Amino acid sequence: MTEGSDLRLKRLPLNNGSGQMPVLGFGTLIPDAAATIAATRNALDVGLRHFDSAERYRNEREVGEALQAGLAAGGIAREDIFVTGKLWNTNHRPERVEPAFEASLKRLGLEYLDVYLAHTPFAFQAGDDQDPRDQDGNVIYDKEVTLLDTWRAMESLVDRGKCRAIGLSDITLSKLLLIYESARIKPAVVQVEAHPYLPETELLDFCKEKGIVFLAFAPLGHGMRPGPLDDPVITAIASQVEKTPAQVLLAWAAQRGTALLTTTRTAARARENFDISVLPEEAFDEINRIKTRQRLNSVVTTGVPGFIAQGR
Ligand SMILES: NC(=O)c1ccc[n+]([C@@H]2O[C@H](COP(=O)([O-])OP(=O)(O)OC[C@H]3O[C@@H](n4cnc5c(N)ncnc54)[C@H](OP(=O)(O)O)[C@@H]3O)[C@@H](O)[C@H]2O)c1
Repeated sequence: MTEGSDLRLKRLPLNNGSGQMPVLGFGTLIPDAAATIAATRNALDVGLRHFDSAERYRNEREVGEALQAGLAAGGIAREDIFVTGKLWNTNHRPERVEPAFEASLKRLGLEYLDVYLAHTPFAFQAGDDQDPRDQDGNVIYDKEVTLLDTWRAMESLVDRGKCRAIGLSDITLSKLLLIYESARIKPAVVQVEAHPYLPETELLDFCKEKGIVFLAFAPLGHGMRPGPLDDPVITAIASQVEKTPAQVLLAWAAQRGTALLTTTRTAARARENFDISVLPEEAFDEINRIKTRQRLNSVVTTGVPGFIAQGR
C-alpha cells in the first residue's frame, strides 16, 4: 500500500508516469441532471478525489458544474482531483476521436483529462444517435473501423497533451492483449465489472504484471438485491468488523489491488462508502473463496449498456 494502511488515501501509479489514480472513485452514471450535481458535490465534500464520467451518460455538463463549484468552495486544485472521460461507441472512427474528446472536455469545463477510455471495444454506426438500431431493433455496428484504429487516434490525444493517459473499458483479456501488443502507448487503465461474484482474476493478474490500473465498476454489484451486498459471507464479515456490507465489498476491492467506482445519490452513503478500512487477512481470504459467479452487466459482449444504476 502506498499510503500506510489507510485505504481512503491509497493511489495507484499510471504506467506512463503521468500521475496516480486515487483508488476510491466516484461514478457519475446518474440518470437525473439535478441528482448528478448534488451527488458529485457530496462525493467531493466527503473526500473523494476521483471522478468517472462518460459522454454516454449525457450529464458531463452537470458533473463539470459540480466539480467547478466544489473545487472553488473547498479550495481544491484541479491537480488534486483525477477525472476520467470515455469515448462512446459511435465515435470510434479516427477522425471523430479528437472532436468527441474536445466536446467532452468542453462540457466538463476542464482543460485536460487524467485518463480517457474507449468506453467499449465495439464501434457503432458513426453519428449523433448514440444507440443506432436497424428496423428490427438490432444495434448497427461499424465494420469499417477496428479498435486499433481508434486506439491510434487516442494515442495522438496523449501526444498532443490533451489527456495524460488512455485506456480501455468493458474489455476482455484477449481483446486487451491485441491492443497491448500493438500499442505504441500502452493502456494505462482497464475499467471492467468486478466484485466477489466476478473477480476477473486472470485479467487482474495481467494488469498487475503490466502495471495497468484495474478499475472495478459495480463493486457493490450495481446495488442489486439479491447480490454481493446480501452475500452471507459479506454480511457475516460486516458484523464481525463492525462495518456495513458495502464497506466490506469496497475494502476487499481496494485490498486486492484494484481501484473502484461506486455511485450513490445520497450524502450518507457517500460518507459510508468513503469510510473504509483494511479487512483482517482471514476475512479477505474468505471473500476470495466465495464460489458464486455472476456477471451483472452484458455490455462487455455487445457494447450496449446492460444496466443503468437505479436506487432501490
Ligand atoms: N464502463 C462501463 O461500461 C460501466 C458500466 C457501469 C458503471 N460504470 C461506472 O461505474 C460507476 C459505478 O456504478 P455501479 O452501479 O457500477 O456501482 P455500484 O456502487 O456497484 O452500485 C451503485 C448502486 O448501489 C447503491 N449503493 C451505493 N452505495 C450503497 C451502500 N453503501 N449500501 C447499499 N447500496 C448502495 C446505489 O444506490 P443509491 O444511489 O440509492 O445509493 C446504486 O444503485 C458508474 O457510475 C459508472 O461511472 C461503468
